[in-house]
Amino acid sequence: MSASPNIIPIPVSCRLTGGAPFALTALTVVTASDPALRATAAQLAVRLDVAVLDRAPAGVPVIALEIDSELTGRLGAEGYVLTTGAAGVSIRGGGAAGVFYGTQSLRQLLPPDIERFGWRAGGGGATVPAVEIEDRPRFRWRGSLLDVSRHFSPVGEVKQYLDTLALHKLNVFHWHLVDDQGWRIEIKQYPRLTTVGAWRETTTRTGAETTFDGVPHGGFYTQDEIREVVAYAAERHITVMPEIELPGHSSAALAAYPELGNTDAPGYAPKVQARWAIFPETYAPKPATLQFLDDVLTEVLALFPSPFIHIGGDEAMKEQWEASPTTRAFMKANGLKDGHEMQSWFIRRTENFLAQRGRRLIGWDEIQEGGLAPGAAMMAWRDVKWAIEAARLGHDVVMAPTSHTYFDYTEGTAEEEGGAIGAQTTLEKVYSFDPIPAELEPAHHARVLGAQGQLWRERMPSLAVVEFRAFPRLSALAEVLWSPVARKNYADFRTRLIWLLARLDRLGVNYRRPRD
Ligand code: ACM
Repeated sequence: MSASPNIIPIPVSCRLTGGAPFALTALTVVTASDPALRATAAQLAVRLDVAVLDRAPAGVPVIALEIDSELTGRLGAEGYVLTTGAAGVSIRGGGAAGVFYGTQSLRQLLPPDIERFGWRAGGGGATVPAVEIEDRPRFRWRGSLLDVSRHFSPVGEVKQYLDTLALHKLNVFHWHLVDDQGWRIEIKQYPRLTTVGAWRETTTRTGAETTFDGVPHGGFYTQDEIREVVAYAAERHITVMPEIELPGHSSAALAAYPELGNTDAPGYAPKVQARWAIFPETYAPKPATLQFLDDVLTEVLALFPSPFIHIGGDEAMKEQWEASPTTRAFMKANGLKDGHEMQSWFIRRTENFLAQRGRRLIGWDEIQEGGLAPGAAMMAWRDVKWAIEAARLGHDVVMAPTSHTYFDYTEGTAEEEGGAIGAQTTLEKVYSFDPIPAELEPAHHARVLGAQGQLWRERMPSLAVVEFRAFPRLSALAEVLWSPVARKNYADFRTRLIWLLARLDRLGVNYRRPRD
C-alpha cells in the first residue's frame, strides 16, 4: 500500500509493508562502520539521545546506516532506501549524502517532540510504522541565498540557519558576503576591507529610505570562522558557495580602497552605504584593481571548495566607466565600445581566472549581456527568459526568479505585512513553481541545475525575521526541488506542513504560520 508520510519534501515512493512498527527506546543504537558516515551517525544519535556504535550488540534495536554501492547507479549518491520495522531501521544510501537524507526522513517519521526530548518523546513511546521508502532528488541544486551584507548574522546564527536547510534536504548555501552596505569576509592581504568596509554608521529604516536609525552596524567573518561554517555545512551535505560581487555593488570595497575605483569620474565618492539603492561605484580596469580582484579570489578559493564561485555581475552601473578619462582610454585601447562591453570584459576575465584554477563562474543574468563566457553558468533572477536563452546556448542555469523565489517579498498581503519589497509571493505560488520552464525544449532540460530561494536582508535585521520570511516558503521550494512532479499536491503538502511546523516549533524556528 502506498502512503503519504509526514515528510517534506515528499519522497519518491513510500510503501507500508504491513509489519509491526519500529519503537524508539533508550536501548536503540545507531550503527555506522563506514568512516564517511561518522558525522551523520553522531548527529542522529545526539538528536535521539541514544548511543552510536560501529556494530550493534545482539538483541538491541538498531538504526543501521550504510552506503550501498549497488544503489549508487540506480538512485545516485543522494538517493537512499529507508526501511523501518520491529527489527529496527535500515538506511542505505547511494552515497554518504543519501544516508544523510535518509536520516532526515527518519527524523520526520518520528514525533516532533524527538527534536527536544530524543527517545523520551511522548514518554518514551515513539514509534514509526513499518514502511519502505525509496527516494532521490529531482534537482541537484537545491539552494538558499542569505544576504549578510545588508544585515549581518554571526556564525552561531548561520549554523542555526544551516540546520534548518539540512532538515529540508537543501544542499547549496549561497552566502552573499559582499555588497555596497558591508564587506563581510576577512581577506588577509587587504585588511581595510574589514576594518573599514565591514562597518556603516547608520541604516535607513523606512520605506521612504530617508530615515536613518543612527545605529552603527557591521561585522565580518574571520577566515577561521569561514572554515568553521564550511565544515559545519559539509557535515550536513551542504555546499557553501560564496558570492563576491563585481564589478558593481562594490561601494564597501571601494570605501576601503578608493584608489581601485574610477577616481577621475566626476562625483566619485565611495562609502559603505546606509541606504538601499543601486550605487554608481564600479571597479576600474587598472592593474592595481585587477591584482586586487585576483588576490581576493585567491584567498576565497582557498577557503571554499565549492565548484561554483558566484561573482555577482548584477546591476553594475556603466556611468563611471564612461565618465572616467582613464577608463575610457582603457576601453578604447581594448576595443570595448561601451560600458556593457566593459562589464562583459570583467566577467570574461574572471571566468578565465576561475577556470584556470578548476572552478566555474556563476553570476546573475546580467552577465549574459555582451555574451556569456563558454563555461560560465547563469542564475536567472529578473526573468526566466534569460535562463531559457542561456540553456539553449548550452550554459548551465540556476533558477532564482523574482516571480517565485524572492522571499524578501511578503508572503501575506501588504495590509498584513506592509513595508516589504516587491509583490506578494504566497506559499501556494512558490509551491506552483516549476524550475523547468514550459517553453524550454526537452533537449535542454538537463541544463537547469535547480533553483534557490533568495533572502535579501534590507528589511531583515535579525535571524527571527529571516526565518519568518524563509519558512515555510523555503519548505515549499524544497519540495519543488526534491520531489517528482507527479508527487506534488498542494493540499497534501499543507497537511504534512502541520507536522513540519510543529517540528520547527520544537527547534525554535520563527516561521510564519500560513493563513491562505
Ligand atoms: C539581484 O536581486 N540584484 C540579483
